[in-house]
Amino acid sequence: MKILFAASECSPLIKVGGLADVVGSLAKEIKQFGHDIRIILPFYQSLKEKNLDPLKKIADINIKIEGSDEPVLVYQTTLDHIPLYLIKNDSYITNGDIYLEVSEFSSIARFLFFSQAAVELLEKIDWQPDIIHVHDWQTGIIPLLIKIKKFSIKTVFTIHNLLIQGQWNYKQSLDFLGLTGDEIPSLQQTKQGLYGKDFNIVQQAMLNADTITTVSSQYATEIKTQNSFARGLEQEILKRTDDIYGILNGIDTHIFNPGTDLYIHKQYSIKTLNNKVENKLYLQKKVGFKQDKNIPLLGMVTRLDIQKGIDLLASAVDGIVDLGCQIVFLGTGQKKYENMLRRCAQKYSDHVAAYIRFDTRLAQQIYAGADIFLMPSRFEPCGLSQLIAMRYGTIPVVRATGGLIDTVENVKIKQGLIGRIKGITGTGFSFDIFRKDKFAATLKGALDIYAQKKLWRQIQINAMKQDFSWKKSAQKYIKLYKKLFQI
Ligand code: GLC
Repeated sequence: MKILFAASECSPLIKVGGLADVVGSLAKEIKQFGHDIRIILPFYQSLKEKNLDPLKKIADINIKIEGSDEPVLVYQTTLDHIPLYLIKNDSYITNGDIYLEVSEFSSIARFLFFSQAAVELLEKIDWQPDIIHVHDWQTGIIPLLIKIKKFSIKTVFTIHNLLIQGQWNYKQSLDFLGLTGDEIPSLQQTKQGLYGKDFNIVQQAMLNADTITTVSSQYATEIKTQNSFARGLEQEILKRTDDIYGILNGIDTHIFNPGTDLYIHKQYSIKTLNNKVENKLYLQKKVGFKQDKNIPLLGMVTRLDIQKGIDLLASAVDGIVDLGCQIVFLGTGQKKYENMLRRCAQKYSDHVAAYIRFDTRLAQQIYAGADIFLMPSRFEPCGLSQLIAMRYGTIPVVRATGGLIDTVENVKIKQGLIGRIKGITGTGFSFDIFRKDKFAATLKGALDIYAQKKLWRQIQINAMKQDFSWKKSAQKYIKLYKKLFQI
């Protein structure tokens, strides 16, 4: 099969969040199954500094925007042996970093333009995919454009997150796309958004894609059954309910492998788990904490966004420090949350460290060095960090929502005779209600078990034994692609 992934991010080249990891690593896995998979991305300004080699210009096209021609140069390179197309245009794409200021039309125009160029390109090169798989709102207009062109290509839309839907004023968006609104029935439907933003790209994707997926089966259920998760798209979800599949994300288990990871201080595996503590002592020193293997060290690596429960965490910090823990945060995102974490670190400089930056090396060192990984998410379509943490024997304490429910099995102690402990199952700890006291109580429960070294070791082994590789999920995507041709 010939498959084209169209997306706004792709690891290891361009990354803001988990979307990038999924696009990069899922494509690699699909290739392993012998399919001709390719990726198309915007040629952002920051890519100019990367040493892309070989980089070949393969096409020169024009896109009509409000009556005038916009030139587009298309380049081809390879990423992990996968052909990669890059769309370059100085007015809309190659002028600034990945996501622009959301209050400006340029933030939306960039991806409408990219999507148009990607579709136009298919008429210019002699490679046509059977499937175009688009990811989130940024490429969500492609299924509509394919339908209008009447291409015989099937489209798959993956929802990584319904929080941002790509909304703008209807008229301006349609003018930009050179459409009148009569081309296709879905364009008769608008979606009332804030500030008159009644054009909604995710709505159009939901109405036009041949198949829709999301990144865990629990999140699929949540968006189908609870309005708060559907975020205004209840009707569209209802209409397409049988076409929405939940397929769990995986991680690249070659990259995320404590046995071979060169970023960490000391490699380890289940057999050499005693070495993990070296990473803890190293991390404690690096961030300026007291070095003591018995002090529980908590870690968090995340985008700083409302979804991630940073506010809950910040409100619980006093209690967590009282429990004697050290915490290391790493992430970037909304200023409000960046400042929240900075304030926590200032207040407890001996116990809380906050690194407001993007740092792959430090991220790996946190996964390897921490005892416990925190993810108190408000909602979580899948979540990748808990998977990485478990692979590194770092036990997640999470809110029970979305993919966190599907991937973290609550710890249970098996009681034997006369109060003896017979064994322990599970890979982490979760709390239901998004409330500080619930979070604190669950963390306290985890720390009680942490103090019992043998039990903790068993949980670490349980977690490290989980198979979070892409294999099974990639097979599910391939099955779904094939299904689209069996009508
Ligand atoms: C988004 C979601 C996250 C998911 C990731 C990759 O970032 O918020 O839960 O793991 O996309 O699909």
